[in-house]
Amino acid sequence: MNLKGRDFLTLLDFTPEEILYLLDLAAELKRKKKAGEPHDVLRGKNVALIFEKTSTRTRSSFEVACSDLGMGSTYLDPSGSQIGKKESIADTARVLCRMYDAIEYRGFGQQIVEELAEYSSVPVINGLTNEYHPTQILADMLTVRERFGSLKGKKLVYMGDARYNMGNSLMIGCAKLGVNYTVASPESYFPEESLREKCLAIAAETGASIEFEVDPFKAVRDADVIYTDIWVSMGEPEEIWAQRIHDLLPYQVNAGLMAAAKPETVFMHCLPSFHDRKTGIGSRLGEIFGLDAFEVTNDVFESPQSLVFDEAENRMHTIKAVLFAVLGGKL
Ligand code: CP
Ligand code: NVA
Repeated sequence: MNLKGRDFLTLLDFTPEEILYLLDLAAELKRKKKAGEPHDVLRGKNVALIFEKTSTRTRSSFEVACSDLGMGSTYLDPSGSQIGKKESIADTARVLCRMYDAIEYRGFGQQIVEELAEYSSVPVINGLTNEYHPTQILADMLTVRERFGSLKGKKLVYMGDARYNMGNSLMIGCAKLGVNYTVASPESYFPEESLREKCLAIAAETGASIEFEVDPFKAVRDADVIYTDIWVSMGEPEEIWAQRIHDLLPYQVNAGLMAAAKPETVFMHCLPSFHDRKTGIGSRLGEIFGLDAFEVTNDVFESPQSLVFDEAENRMHTIKAVLFAVLGGKL
């Protein structure tokens, strides 16, 4: 398998075999790190990390992965560069690819990361756009595979706003890897028709099922994984919280919903999460709406069924695998 020089913009661009190769590579890099075996095989390489939105996991994953691989990295924060204000994406791409061996972009529309890739002669990696979050899906699939030993035929239920980056990307990842994917949300939160059709066509090849269900309790029957994400994403206006709470509260992952699945069903979340009032926003919104939690209750988040911190750790191992693969690393 050779992914050297490839952009990593959406999993739609990758075959199931290529995605499984990245998961195997991540598992091997994880093993090496745990065993204390050095793998600084990309010495002399550098990556530019553009973040137009904030991050804890993605930024940390890239920086730690770079350090472990012997690479350098430069973090360009949401306000500290010329991008978008004094310099276009096309010009930024043409400057950065003269200095760096790869570029990571986190920000707004998918068309921005596509334009970066078009004008860059080095690989561009999507660290989250409004539409897709492909590095997150690698971490999620590695986590599911670690827990259950396999992916094909497992059932993952996504609760909440299924038409944004996480819902879209999970649908693609599940379709590609033969994981049965069920959306549980009001119809208006189902993914966009054209992406649904693409994924149904992929699923027909891999044997996955893709279903859309408005009844949350029906959806989670026989689920192996119940997954949710924050109800209002970065870049969306705060005014939509009231509507989202009204629409999505029936899809909150709580003990009652978990009990409608199986005892071995796991809970997953890309994080960050509003599962209590211990954050600035969580406490303010909790006060306004009279809720202690939004998309997941604290008892589920803290339960033994919750894999959220394994999942967060796997962001680093999988992002390391992507950097390693697109930069042509050799073990
Ligand atoms: N899951 C995820 O992408 O987290 P960050 O926003 O902290 O990077
Ligand atoms: N949907 C969330 C994902 C965060 C990792 C957001 O875009 O804010």
